[in-house]
Amino acid sequence: MTKICCIGAGYVGGPTCAVIAYKCPNVQVTIVDLNQARIDAWNSGNLPIYEPGLDEVVFACRGKNLFFSTEVDKAIVEADLIFVSVNTPTKKSGIGAGFAADLAYVESATRRIAQVATSSKIVIEKSTVPCRTAESMRTILEANSHDGIRFDILSNPEFLAEGTAVPDLMKPDRVLIGSLQTPEGIKAQQALAAVYANWVPKEKIITMNLWSSELSKLAANALLAQRISSINALSAICEATGADVDEVAYACGLDTRIGPKFLKASVGFGGSCFQKDILNLVYLSESLHLPEVAAYWKQVVDMNEYQKSRFSQRIVKRLFNTITNKNITVFGFAFKKNTGDTRESAAITLVNYFLQERANISIYDPKVDDDQIRADITELAPVEAFEKQIKVVHDPYQAAKGADAIVVLTEWDEFKTLNYEQIYAGMNKPAFIFDGRLILDSKKLRDIGFQVEVIGKTL
Ligand code: UDX
Ligand code: UDX
Ligand code: ADP
Repeated sequence: MTKICCIGAGYVGGPTCAVIAYKCPNVQVTIVDLNQARIDAWNSGNLPIYEPGLDEVVFACRGKNLFFSTEVDKAIVEADLIFVSVNTPTKKSGIGAGFAADLAYVESATRRIAQVATSSKIVIEKSTVPCRTAESMRTILEANSHDGIRFDILSNPEFLAEGTAVPDLMKPDRVLIGSLQTPEGIKAQQALAAVYANWVPKEKIITMNLWSSELSKLAANALLAQRISSINALSAICEATGADVDEVAYACGLDTRIGPKFLKASVGFGGSCFQKDILNLVYLSESLHLPEVAAYWKQVVDMNEYQKSRFSQRIVKRLFNTITNKNITVFGFAFKKNTGDTRESAAITLVNYFLQERANISIYDPKVDDDQIRADITELAPVEAFEKQIKVVHDPYQAAKGADAIVVLTEWDEFKTLNYEQIYAGMNKPAFIFDGRLILDSKKLRDIGFQVEVIGKTL
């Protein structure tokens, strides 16, 4: 029986290795983490992350061939294949601050593997890492290996998107496996390919060189984010000219060379990957003495910041140039629908902007915890401002009571079907609604009496 250990029970490691267990009854999967509370949650009825379909997968195999534990060393010793799925946040200080990935967690997990392994292992880099991280991992493993133990390193980047993680894993567009093109590297590549072959068609399992695989992950995210920044740049032109960004996206998307996906204008992209990976690519370009390339990619992130500030300014302008002491209701705090994750969510930037303008803010999100909202906002703003100006409300109607404006920042489906007559009746007049996700029926809202403002559209 093949034994797999996954180090890191987060958004990536948890769903990925749970699906491996689900699809491979002959593989034993142990997911370990240093965080006891997180592991307890994975072992409970209330999993630590929300993903549609994840409960079914975990409950079907937990205790059979899927285990969650804090016994990191034991799981390393027993495993044949080890996934490293720890966090790689952007560095906050020191060299490369704000751009480079902090590889401290990857390094410490790698050192642990080298210290405790008593037999040869295939070590798989799953976390998103800068190009050539595998080289550092290999150096650490080889320098610390003992008794003739062999370590082969593979890159197997994750392409799942949050909110659709389970279907993305069940039916991936492709599985990438990078390795050194040595006989041993290729053998290790085949061992991992055999695991995926339990449910992924062979032609979708792509093998390539280690550095191509590492760079492909950053490249795919950069290209996707670039499309959003491109359509968002066009949304500014639409607002200035009377063109409609949805119509423009539709017309362009019909060209099969362009295609319709990732052309939805928005208040700005968020999530743990896009910004981080692009900044990583920027940093990599600079390190390689390619400043023009760095500037090119940096502009994708700058455009995203511009989109958020442009939308905030539009809100203030429409509310007669001041929101001081006005009541602003925020619908949606997660970085996109069907997830409780708020990392890099546009809502964090917008709410902080409203705070600085001294508005009173009530926030409603169907899945994000109160504590998370508090932590995200107070990372940038003083706790007193949070206490005084912000309320987290668990009912959308309650949240909108007495509001001057509603601002939609996440595209949750439930926002489309709320009773807006009822909401309108309880709001201050004129009642404004700002759709940062282009999901509401503006005509219907105008008929009710709302003043409606939508990204990339005038009237
Ligand atoms: C373009 C548009 O494709 C067409 O829809 C529009 O009506 C007119 O402009 P054209 O300029 O004739 O057509 O050629 P196109 O095939 O788009 O190529 C433009 C340039 O991009 C060429 O130099 C081509 O070599 C280059 N190209 C295209 C690449 O370098 N890589 C590619 O993947 C595709
Ligand atoms: C992304 C990549 O899609 C995934 O392949 C990678 O492995 C991890 O990063 P994720 O961050 O979960 O996944 O979400 P994604 O669906 O890509 O959305 C990212 C952000 O872009 C969200 O804030 C979303 O609302 C926004 N977005 C997406 C748009 O504004 N418009 C679009 O058309 C698509
Ligand atoms: P991602 O979105 O990349 O999955 P998360 O932050 O959700 O990131 O998850 C990463 C997990 O890895 C965290 O739960 C963290 O506690 C865990 N982790 C980090 N370093 C180690 C380590 N050395 N050993 C075990 N777990 C670790």
